[in-house]
Amino acid sequence: MDLLALLNCLADGEYHSGVELGHKLNVSRTSVWKSLSKLEEHGVCLEKTKGKGYRIVGGLDLLDREGVLSRLESCSGLLHDLHLLQSIESTNSYLMADDSCVNPDHYVVCMAERQTAGRGRRGRAWHSPYARNIYLSLSFHLNGGSESLDGLSLALGVAVANCLSEQGVMGVGLKWPNDILVGGKKLAGILVELKGEAEQGWKVVVGLGLNVLMSRSEGLEIDQPWVSISSLLNNSLLSRGEWAALLIESIINTIELYRDCGFKGLLSDWERYDALSQKHVMVVGGDLRGVCEGVDERGRLMMRVDGDIKLINAGEVSVRSDESSN
Ligand code: BTN
Repeated sequence: MDLLALLNCLADGEYHSGVELGHKLNVSRTSVWKSLSKLEEHGVCLEKTKGKGYRIVGGLDLLDREGVLSRLESCSGLLHDLHLLQSIESTNSYLMADDSCVNPDHYVVCMAERQTAGRGRRGRAWHSPYARNIYLSLSFHLNGGSESLDGLSLALGVAVANCLSEQGVMGVGLKWPNDILVGGKKLAGILVELKGEAEQGWKVVVGLGLNVLMSRSEGLEIDQPWVSISSLLNNSLLSRGEWAALLIESIINTIELYRDCGFKGLLSDWERYDALSQKHVMVVGGDLRGVCEGVDERGRLMMRVDGDIKLINAGEVSVRSDESSN
């Protein structure tokens, strides 16, 4: 039985009896029951009430591939394909393994309703419950040597921060290199992965996780302070599909800008969001402590240590607030 058809019936948040669902989908009640259990295995939270049937409390805001495609305005000509999957280990891993696009100017996008092994930076897991957030990856080609990657991950943070701010999310901050925070809590994260293409530049896969609808109880296993869009924007909530389209546009347009001018062209935007400016930090895993003085044109963190400026590369270390110095 088509699980997606069943989900679409239940997406309205209303009660549906097993008999009604069987009629609608032209299957037996037993088949409906089996499929409902499968949905639960996928992490869909079903409520069963005697005499009323089944419902998904609060309904579901499902992604729709055609809907996302129809909203892409400026960058649709650059898109090779958009994959929408119900469940996958990781959208980044999916695109790392996908070599379907041979046009070096084109992008492939992969979104999933759920990730079973979503990955964050520094080997952490990325919690990815069904149909609550955005799990989005893009793959593309970048010419040049390793210098062509300078500042790329910061540029991507700017793309997401700009998109969020334009939609009314207040107080967006970027914690170097590209954590997206509001009020010191993590709203979104970006994972950049690379495959060197001998003499021919890089295959780049950029993965974005953005918390959209995740509630306190759904995010209990996350071990750092976090926030969702739904708790920041009470009115004017965009659907997840609308968010996905806006983010894809902003990311692709920013990468196109980055191809032309590098991170230099995005530095002033970065400075507007810089959440670490003048903050005392320590380099994780090292004994370096200092004060952040912004980033340079290559996206390196400028840290004042005993009167000298030290330049820190994003790929090498991460930083955390040094509360002992504040
Ligand atoms: C971070 O640790 O801040 C980066 C999080 C990146 C999560 C996204 S979700 C889509 C893509 N697929 C993954 O497995 N990870 C990224």
